[in-house]
Parts: sequence; C-alpha cells; structure tokens
Amino acid sequence: MMHISEMFSARVPRYTSYPTAPHFHSGIDSASYHSWLATLEPTTALSLYVHIPFCDTLCWFCGCHTTVVNHYDPVKNYCGFLLKEIDLVAAALGTRHRVQHLHWGGGSPTMLKDEDVGNLNAALRDRFEIAADAEFAIEIDPRGFGSKNAKLFAQAGVTRASIGLQDCDPQVQRAINRIQTDEETSQAIAMLRAEGIRSINLDLVYGLPRQSLQSWEKTLAFALKLNPDRLAVFGYAHVPTFKKHQSLIPEALLPDIETRFRMAELARDTLCHHGFVAIGLDHFARPHDKLAQSARDGSLERNFQGYTTDGAPVLIGLGASAIGSLPQGYAQNVSDVPAYRKMLERDILPIKGGIRIDVEDRIRRQVIESLMCDLKADLDDVTARYGMTREMLSDSLTALSGYAADGVVSLDGGKITIAPEWRAATRLVCAAFDTYFAQGTVGHSVSV
Ligand SMILES: C[S@@+](CC[C@H](N)C(=O)[O-])C[C@H]1O[C@@H](n2cnc3c(N)ncnc32)[C@H](O)[C@@H]1O
Ligand code: SF4
Repeated sequence: MMHISEMFSARVPRYTSYPTAPHFHSGIDSASYHSWLATLEPTTALSLYVHIPFCDTLCWFCGCHTTVVNHYDPVKNYCGFLLKEIDLVAAALGTRHRVQHLHWGGGSPTMLKDEDVGNLNAALRDRFEIAADAEFAIEIDPRGFGSKNAKLFAQAGVTRASIGLQDCDPQVQRAINRIQTDEETSQAIAMLRAEGIRSINLDLVYGLPRQSLQSWEKTLAFALKLNPDRLAVFGYAHVPTFKKHQSLIPEALLPDIETRFRMAELARDTLCHHGFVAIGLDHFARPHDKLAQSARDGSLERNFQGYTTDGAPVLIGLGASAIGSLPQGYAQNVSDVPAYRKMLERDILPIKGGIRIDVEDRIRRQVIESLMCDLKADLDDVTARYGMTREMLSDSLTALSGYAADGVVSLDGGKITIAPEWRAATRLVCAAFDTYFAQGTVGHSVSV
C-alpha cells in the first residue's frame, strides 16, 4: 500500500475542463470562436460567466485571475469594455439565446459600483433572454460588504451568493494577508438573507499557512454556525512559479500532505455529521439543495466554477481570462486586462486560445466528469454513446491497476468505482484517463 504523502504528492489538474486549460493553444483565435458562436442553433440554451478581475487587496494564497486596484477608474473602464464584448458576442450569435444560469465571479464582483452593476445587468438582459427562473450566482468578498451592496444585488436578480470565508483563525489570516472578522462574514450573510438572497455558499480553504487540525476544526465549527446551504472546501493550490505573490507564503508554514489529507477528512466527517451531503470531490450541500438533488439523480455537472446543476450545453465566458465551452471545443479570453482592452478596441473577440475537441476527447471528458461528479464511471456506457468500445481506454484501465490493488478503486469490467474513503484520490484516478497529462504537469498543485 502506497503511503498517503507519496500518493498525494503527485501534481494533477482539478479537472474543471478536459482537456485542461494548460493544453489550450493559439490555433483557436477570434475568428474560430466567432464561427463557433455563429453556428450555434438559435434554440440552444446558454450559461453565462462574467469575470471581474479586480480586488481591493491581494490575498497571498490567491490563485484567481485578479489585480489589486487602488482606485475605481480601471474597474469602470473595464466595465465599458465588458459591454462591448457582450455586444460582439451577441452579434456573432445572431439570436437572443435563452440563458438559464448566470454567474459573476472574479476577483471580486463586489468591487462594482451601482451604476456598473446596473449597466452590466441591463446589457445582459437586453442581449440575452434571461429565464425568469434563471439561477444568478455571484461571488462575494464579505470584507466591506454592506446592506447597500446586498440590496443592489437582490434588485439585479441575484439568487445565490458565494462567500469567501477561507479560514477564520487570526494567525492564518495574517499569513495569507486576508484579515476578515467573524462579524464581517456573518453580517454579510444576514444582509443577503434580509434582501431575499437565500441560497448561501461558503468557500473554505485547507492547507493554508499556519493552519493546524485544531484551528481548522474551529473554522469548520464557525462555518456551520453560519448555516450555509452549500460549502466548497478547496485544498490550497500552491503554485508560486505561476502565481508569483504566493512566494510571500513561506513553504515551511504550510501543512504537510498528510495533514492536508486529514483536514479534507475532518471537513467531510464534520459536515456530513451535521447533515450535509458530500458532493463530488470538494463540495457539500444540504439534502434539500439543488446541488444535492442533482447529485442524487445523476445530473450533476462540472464546469470552470466547480460543480453545477446547470444543464445548458454551452457556456459563454465574458471578461478577461474567461473560458467558454461550446460544442466544438473551448475558447479562452486573454487574461491580461490591457490586452483584453486592446483587442476590443479593434472590435475583435478577445480570444487568446483554446482547443477543438474530437470524439476521443469527448469520451475521456465524459469519463472524467462522471468520476469527478459521481465517483464512478461506466466505460461501456460512455464509449457506446459514441459507437466505440471500452478497448480504446484499455491503457487507462491498466494504469488504474495499482489503485485497484490498493482498494482505492474497484474495477468490474468497464465499471470503475472510487471507494468513498478514497474520495480525495479522485483527481489521481481521473489523471489515468488524461492523455494530455503526460505532456506537462508543471502548472498543477498537489492532489489533495
Ligand atoms: C474569486 S474567489 C471568491 C470571492 C472573493 N474574491 C473572496 O475571496 O471572498 C474564489 C474562491 O477561490 C478559492 N481560491 C482562491 N485561490 C485559491 C488557491 N490558491 N487554492 C485553492 N482555492 C483558492 C477561494 O476559496 C475563493 O473564495
Ligand atoms: S481570494 Fe478573492 S479577494 Fe482575495 S485576492 Fe483572490 S479573488 Fe481577491
């Protein structure tokens, strides 16, 4: 049996897409994306993601595409370009498509002032037919969040708020440069609920500097007191080669891999003991929540925002670094805000790259998504949908034999099931189906 630290030191993707973003290339450009949009059936339902890449201060652990701004001008200016991108995308689509899921993420969309929230919301509603029962989720930094913000988002139609809690221990907060009092978090939630935004998600992160199992237990207890509907419990992805500011966190302060594994276990045991259902790898939901319902009925999906109940076949990404998922493949916007602006000034869709996906990619993507969502996959079933047989995946199955011998997975012909106690190994099992993975693993974090 392999030791936990040895097993989880492998660096693997988080599989929010397949193929994953490091394998996107510049062969997919604005013209390719334009033609992909233009050929969508007018009746195709869409999901929209809008990226706001700005924050007030920089959290040293942050892995998101964001920049710190000291004044509002760059945010205001960016919002103007977002409106232009919305116009260009809508023109390429040619039809006012129905939207059933809208997500504003970042960075911190809570940076936006009233006028820009209003303009952005109006432009989206003008160019797309946002369904009356659409889910509208927004990511919220509770620091400095006030009742005016809560009112503004409620009026814009927000139905679900995702709140960054991360960790409530003062020592940990200092070590990540994110000072956030318990009151700030609980008041933000109370204000959102008072305005009628009732679906509340909390983001927690384990594996942060100065965290211990004892401090983590307190953070979990505080999170439970806030009575959220959902929780996302992420393992800290420490990749200072790519996120330079993370080198402000001394590696000596980071919990080791075995402790990370214990923290993930403690979160699962604690949350499940308090009535939450474990969803996929790192999410938890109340049994009545839509996420738990879709996990039960097998309709759970995974996209760039994590786990979703969103059934739309197409995701349109708007804003710097945003990624779209279309029938033909993935397309990503440039991440750098000045470059994003320059392309839009020239009236071209701000695409930096992407990847076209073939039948084999689709099959492997379906297997990986099933494993990430349901902790199981049926290779015969998935391959048959494309007129193939599971023999095409025999190399991947062979790669899993070590895990099968260790009881991490059980293999029954083409049926793979991850043992519940080895949920944390899901990304490692998925990597066996990732043919691009061997081509370079530098950009990933440890697998627990
Ligand atoms: C865009 S932020 C959420 C909204 C807001 N900016 C905030 O921090 O409160 C998205 C979430 O990603 C997670 N995250 C950011 N950097 C991470 C990293 N390096 N490893 C793991 N999770 C990370 C955090 O839990 C964070 O709440
Ligand atoms: S964690 Fe959130 S608030 Fe902190 S820098 Fe990242 S995006 Fe900004």
